[in-house]
Amino acid sequence: MVKGMFVANPMEDPLRFQKPVSPCILVIFGAHGDLTRRKLIPALYRLAYERRLPTGFSVVGISRTALSDQQFRDKMRESVQEFLENSPFEMDLWNEFERGLFYMAGDVNDAGIYKRLGETIAAVDSQRQTDGSVLFYLSTQPSQYSQIAAGLGQAGLNRAPEGHANAWRRLIVEKPFGHDLSSARQLSQELRHYFDEREIYRIDHYLGKETVQNILAFRFGNVIFEPIWNRRYINHVQITAAESIGVEGRGAYYQEAGALRDMIQNHMLQVLATMAMEPPAAYEPDAVRDERAKLLRALKVMKPDDVLTHAVAGQYGPAQVGGNQLPGFRQEHGVKPDAQTDTYAAVTLFVENWRWAGVPFYIRTGKRLPKRTTDIAIQFNSAPLAMFQSDGDAGDSPATWPNLLVLRIQPEEGISLRFSSKHPGAGMKLRPVTMDFNYGTSFGARSPSAY
Ligand code: BG6
Repeated sequence: MVKGMFVANPMEDPLRFQKPVSPCILVIFGAHGDLTRRKLIPALYRLAYERRLPTGFSVVGISRTALSDQQFRDKMRESVQEFLENSPFEMDLWNEFERGLFYMAGDVNDAGIYKRLGETIAAVDSQRQTDGSVLFYLSTQPSQYSQIAAGLGQAGLNRAPEGHANAWRRLIVEKPFGHDLSSARQLSQELRHYFDEREIYRIDHYLGKETVQNILAFRFGNVIFEPIWNRRYINHVQITAAESIGVEGRGAYYQEAGALRDMIQNHMLQVLATMAMEPPAAYEPDAVRDERAKLLRALKVMKPDDVLTHAVAGQYGPAQVGGNQLPGFRQEHGVKPDAQTDTYAAVTLFVENWRWAGVPFYIRTGKRLPKRTTDIAIQFNSAPLAMFQSDGDAGDSPATWPNLLVLRIQPEEGISLRFSSKHPGAGMKLRPVTMDFNYGTSFGARSPSAY
């Protein structure tokens, strides 16, 4: 990218990145796939829009489909125009951005592709002055992850070239990272053969969501919530990630994964850990990671019999929605007609530590549910004495609405607290009301996409 092309004085730009980012090439394996189109390139364009990309930043996309650089650029432009959220598409900016997009066709099973990739990297590096740093992004079939790492390693692409003192090589791995503990460990071992642990990034895009990060700010940047954030005050916690979409063309992958592996073991456990962990000693990656890990270690492991009482699985069938006939999961492309896959999963978890013993955490997620909503609802204990009458439907029974704190992750990002209030007029009847914080209203903009 041309220096200074975005703003006259970047120092005055409130969106500018605080830390200087060194130039690099991002190599995307699976560049013709859905993730690249829907998330990765729109997110990179958004970074360009925010002036956060380093000068010379470039992308080399790899996939089996034969495309020229220009065809790849055109496809990516269409994707950005379709999927960009919360920022405008500017043609001038795109023209600058697309000069950094390159493409090469190749099959990751073919050993020759890595040598060609090395040549492409060298050519882009000298054209765009990226100083030898490369980030490899694995957005392919999970079964190809170790093979790609090995191909990169055997071609020497896992190490920066001589003479580039500060250059680095890094690897981002998309989920699913294995399908159980032993396959995840094996994959880690295979990747570590060629990359150091500090060079490997196992991505969980939920950790990039502003509202998930805000859980930390909410808990540890305020004094009034932490004293009541425990079993003495909290009755239970519900974490919900409901999606209205189906599997959207990812039937073959999803059939093997299911809701438990696709959403719960990764995204939702990370949300749970962020919500429930102990305060870290500092806001530093390792300190936060350690507290999350401690919390996850304290989760009670279910025995086979517990599964019957603590877990539910379901699958969506065909339905008429808004005048459209939508296929059931078993009718989706790439799915077997007798697939047993869970597209809905709910589990009750317990954290066995002093803070949370006995507090149920109800976790649920599913596709093709009535609306898209992700939130954490924290229900507090009821007042010890029901002194007042309720208003409305509950007739004259005592008021029984416990306080409820809802951290809304998406789509209406915000926080609301329910409490009881006196209904105006004669008598002393109570009714639940809410105090609301809304991101859009307070910050004038919605959060960018997590990617
Ligand atoms: C992905 C899952 O990791 O997360 C998808 O594979 C799911 O199945 C998606 O739809 C949900 O992400 P978001 O950001 O839309 O909540």
